[in-house]
Amino acid sequence: MEVHIIMKAFVVNHAGDSSALELVDRPMPHADATHSVMRIRAFGVHRYEVLTREGGSPSVHFPRVLGVEAVGEVAATAPDSGLKVGAHVLTINGGFGRAFDGSYEEYALVPNKQLYTADYQGSWTDFAQYPETFSTAYGALQSLRLAPHDHLLVRGGTSAVGLAIIKLAKASGYQVTATSRKAARLAFLRDAGADEAVQDRDGQLQTESMYAGIIDLVGATTVMNSVAHINVGGTCCMVGLLSGEWVMHEFSPFDLQNRYLTTYDSGFADQQLINAMFALINAHHITIPISKVFPFTDLPAAQDYVMANPQIGEVIVTTD
Ligand SMILES: NC(=O)c1ccc[n+]([C@@H]2O[C@H](COP(=O)([O-])OP(=O)(O)OC[C@H]3O[C@@H](n4cnc5c(N)ncnc54)[C@H](OP(=O)(O)O)[C@@H]3O)[C@@H](O)[C@H]2O)c1
Repeated sequence: MEVHIIMKAFVVNHAGDSSALELVDRPMPHADATHSVMRIRAFGVHRYEVLTREGGSPSVHFPRVLGVEAVGEVAATAPDSGLKVGAHVLTINGGFGRAFDGSYEEYALVPNKQLYTADYQGSWTDFAQYPETFSTAYGALQSLRLAPHDHLLVRGGTSAVGLAIIKLAKASGYQVTATSRKAARLAFLRDAGADEAVQDRDGQLQTESMYAGIIDLVGATTVMNSVAHINVGGTCCMVGLLSGEWVMHEFSPFDLQNRYLTTYDSGFADQQLINAMFALINAHHITIPISKVFPFTDLPAAQDYVMANPQIGEVIVTTD
């Protein structure tokens, strides 16, 4: 007879404000040949999860447990999975919290192929700043194929991903300029490690400078202005949609003028990328600010806090 252990989960049954996150009792999932049970210890809360909760993601159907990333331990796994019970693991994207239930629960069923180990010795809360935010930052940086000492611009530098890019890029030896819409935040960006900070006003970079590569986190509304600041042969990688705009209107491919435009999706992460990323993080002791830590039961308040954005940094929820 199968024993059902009860756990807590935040389920979204219908689109709505943060009260649509309903805390319920559910049976803990069971591992099978291709999926392990992960005990969720901590995770970052992200604005695109809020947009999904509001019904803004056409590919996500309710009821759903949201949450696209987590750190935790393997709680149960098949004997030949290659994973060990108790191993510290992280998971990112790949349908987690979107096509199937994600991290907003105490135990999650995760495909074995998207459970990654990491060489990291810090607390669960500190560990939780890395999976989605840093793997996106690291992958986007690789996509630019920069040479040592090349000049990079990070558009949306005060976002968690933006800060991670600044730190990883400086550790990789690049020259870094970062942007904020707010003049009052430019000093913060320099303190965070950027060589230079530039204002992004009304979708226009307030500089005449050109760059070998740009990572644009603001999205469709600014990307062609970013391309206009790239050297011939350089690359602009669009990673974020902070502007809330998904689609580029009146795009003319000839405006690229021998420069490259690409995107990066965190679903491309694999164990090799995670290993290389933590090697760089550990060698340079890289962290970004954690603006606030919420207990699991306060998850709706954590989502509201992310959207209010009173402070720069990652918002973490812990189940401990
Ligand atoms: N492609 C992927 O796989 C992937 C993975 C992770 C994240 N992302 C995307 O990356 C972006 C950053 O994520 P995050 O979690 O790091 O964000 P975050 O920390 O919540 O970003 C907060 C920052 O966004 C800026 N911002 C807010 N509204 C804006 C607007 N309307 N226009 C321009 N900037 C605005 C603000 O900067 P200022 O006020 O200082 O200008 C604020 O400091 C998001 O769009 C997210 O969806 C993509």
